[in-house]
Amino acid sequence: MKRMKKKERWIQHYSSFQKILLVGEGDFSFSACLARQFGSAVNMVATSLDPQEIVYAKHWSCETHLEELKRLGCRVLHEVDVKEMKRHPTLINMEFDVIVFNFPHAGHFPGFCERHVELIKMHRELLKAFFESASDMLSSGGEVHVTHRDDYPYNRWKVEKLANGAGLYLKERVEFQKKDYPGYHNKRGGAINSNKTFPLKDCYTFKFSVSTWESEEEEDEEDDDDYDYNYDDDDDDTISSGSLSDEIGWILPVMKRLHVK
Ligand SMILES: C[S@@+](CC[C@H](N)C(=O)[O-])C[C@H]1O[C@@H](n2cnc3c(N)ncnc32)[C@H](O)[C@@H]1O
Repeated sequence: MKRMKKKERWIQHYSSFQKILLVGEGDFSFSACLARQFGSAVNMVATSLDPQEIVYAKHWSCETHLEELKRLGCRVLHEVDVKEMKRHPTLINMEFDVIVFNFPHAGHFPGFCERHVELIKMHRELLKAFFESASDMLSSGGEVHVTHRDDYPYNRWKVEKLANGAGLYLKERVEFQKKDYPGYHNKRGGAINSNKTFPLKDCYTFKFSVSTWESEEEEDEEDDDDYDYNYDDDDDDTISSGSLSDEIGWILPVMKRLHVK
């Protein structure tokens, strides 16, 4: 009997033939969108930082996405920290054509707003470690994609410079349109209003690949002088924000469900 060749399917930058690792997923709707378009997710690994119970508690909408991903053959992993993912027991021997981190964010801490230098430092540390780990997990010609807001204060993260420090260079910066990914809902994450979306202004997918040249720039200069210290900015436009009680309020029902006393 003649064997049918599988047809390659694309959605934007992503192909069903590529090995794709998705990290820092919220409700897994981005992964599910790709899988649906491909008709198969056997080449995909979709991951979250939080353990499964917390993902369910934060994102009630994850259930159908996770079911769909598993039905289409996706490997789903929880508790994958991008800072050390290259040493993760399942990922350690794997290589990927594309590693995707959409809207990275280090979380929110009471008293800090998105313009605050300490929070920007945390975001930068997260991305620096992510790039270092990701650059060791790419197949030949592979790419790291970070989708990020490029307006102030998010442009203070200096994403490109962080990637350069890990030997990755910018191939392309493409405008990101949510409508190009049917069913995708960008999530705030964090602990307050985790399942809510946030405004997507000036968003781009930054596509990096392994550099063949040494950047002549100083890789990781301190740019703190440029930062705008503003402690009382209550910018509702932020990816994640909330008070301490808001931050931890959600944990009680989860602990009850897990029978933690
Ligand atoms: C603003 S949310 C975006 C969620 C999702 N990528 C989306 O587009 O809807 C930021 C995400 O970064 C994740 N994150 C933060 N630190 C992380 C880490 N060290 N490792 C993996 N994911 C992390 C959070 O769990 C959260 O899901």
